[in-house]
Amino acid sequence: MIRKNNLVKNICCVGAGYVGGPTMAVIADKCPDIKVSVVDINEERIKAWNDENLDNLPIYEPGLVEVVKRSRNRNLFFGTNVDDSIENADMVFISVNTPIKSSGLGAFQASDLRWVEVCARRIGAAAKGHTIVVEKSTLPVRTAEIIKEILEAKTKSSRNDEDKKTFSVLSNPEFLAEGTAVNDLLNPDRVLIGGEDELAIEKLKNIYSKWVTNNKILCTSLWSSELSKLTANAFLAQRISSINSISAICEATGANITEVAKAVGLDSRIGNKFLNAGPGFGGSCFKKDILNLVYLCRYFDLDEVANYWEQIVQINNWQQTRIYEKIVEKLFRNLSGKRIAILGFAFKANTNDTRESPAIQIASNLLEEGSILQIHDPKVSKDQISNSLEVYHDNNKLDKSNLNDNWILKDTIEDAVINTDAVLILTEWDIYREINWVRISKLMRPPSWVFDTRLITNPQKVRDAGLNLWRLGEKENDIDNKFNSSKS
Ligand code: UDX
Ligand code: UDX
Repeated sequence: MIRKNNLVKNICCVGAGYVGGPTMAVIADKCPDIKVSVVDINEERIKAWNDENLDNLPIYEPGLVEVVKRSRNRNLFFGTNVDDSIENADMVFISVNTPIKSSGLGAFQASDLRWVEVCARRIGAAAKGHTIVVEKSTLPVRTAEIIKEILEAKTKSSRNDEDKKTFSVLSNPEFLAEGTAVNDLLNPDRVLIGGEDELAIEKLKNIYSKWVTNNKILCTSLWSSELSKLTANAFLAQRISSINSISAICEATGANITEVAKAVGLDSRIGNKFLNAGPGFGGSCFKKDILNLVYLCRYFDLDEVANYWEQIVQINNWQQTRIYEKIVEKLFRNLSGKRIAILGFAFKANTNDTRESPAIQIASNLLEEGSILQIHDPKVSKDQISNSLEVYHDNNKLDKSNLNDNWILKDTIEDAVINTDAVLILTEWDIYREINWVRISKLMRPPSWVFDTRLITNPQKVRDAGLNLWRLGEKENDIDNKFNSSKS
């Protein structure tokens, strides 16, 4: 087997997205001897990565600007020349997107692997000598097998020893969470490397060893590595659906979700993380990974296991539905022409990502009821909101004719709340914690409501400002209101 040398000198990463961008920026920062080229077919995105003004990077992540600033155009390069970059690389990371299929076999469950396949074929065609291919995208179990088969076909068709191409495939799933990506990359709980080729594993391990201690670098088989990623995300999502299901019981019984979560989380066997009740999990991974797991289980006739995991997604959808229904109930079961301010459209704070954001379903339902939405988010653009709502409307066959006339993105919180009947907090941005409710109440139309799905308001301050307040996972104080609305 032809091996270029024992140390990796050139890395290529295909996909300059939320995963590829920050991951490669940190590798380049920590390994100045390695040339890291991040390539993408999306020219706009690459242009933004190369923008002189670092505020224009395509991805917002705390700490990312500093890391990019140190290494960009030193040993970190962003470009669109995918083939050249693959040809020169000893190691190629696949970080392309793998959304859920929207049609055909496994529609709305299985991952759409078309980009991974395109990427594997491109690597097969452009690579020279021996190339280590690292699966970074979160993929269904045994996808590495598909990548291997595509690459091995190329090895077999190499004409002679000189242009012989050989490949090793590794799985190296990403555990970074958006909003804390840089910190997660710098201080990972573990780095997982799956594969069979010892030398390839060693080379990848050497890269991470520059800043991660050896006891945190875990080596497993390819399939264990792929399944561990899906399982980790499924477990995290499961905790959120568990606490969200309990939030509904709290509202009904008078228990308080924050108190319950604290009491439960102090049990060291359970732990206190991922116990924040909210509007449901969003993001590009949780739903997709669980649905992949469900698909895998059904494929292997493990229906009981599939049903178990499917329930996590169902509770997540139900949480969003019941929040919307609560708003309809409180606003006299009539939203026609009423203005509602939505504070936060990103799926969590500190990111500009809206993929699978609970705001999409909730906003769409409110629009269906005839309300007018005044949306505010410190990082999400108008185009992103527009695309998210359009795709949701298409997938759910909703009427789009007046869609864009009925919502507007506002620059400030004050602008967003003017003349509204209700304020709905969906993302836990810090600026929403510090809202001056007295000022806000004067801009709204009474009787005005605040719906806090992230539990970031100070209830006393909101009520003192003369506003009605509904907080997720808490029983309402004003029994009268509840009585009136249940009678209507
Ligand atoms: C990642 C993982 O890859 C995905 O599997 C996981 O579920 C979520 O995180 P992410 O980086 O968030 O994806 O996706 P995205 O921000 O969409 O970036 C992917 C990039 O790959 C895009 O910029 C896209 O243009 C690029 N791409 C896609 C290519 O360069 N070539 C292709 O053939 C396909
Ligand atoms: C997740 C995983 O955490 C990460 O390891 C994996 O690599 C990618 O998927 P991410 O989706 O970026 O990361 O964010 P995460 O912090 O996990 O939040 C996911 C969703 O769960 C968000 O919508 C968040 O608001 C929600 N969440 C999280 C809660 O509702 N309550 C919590 O206690 C924690």
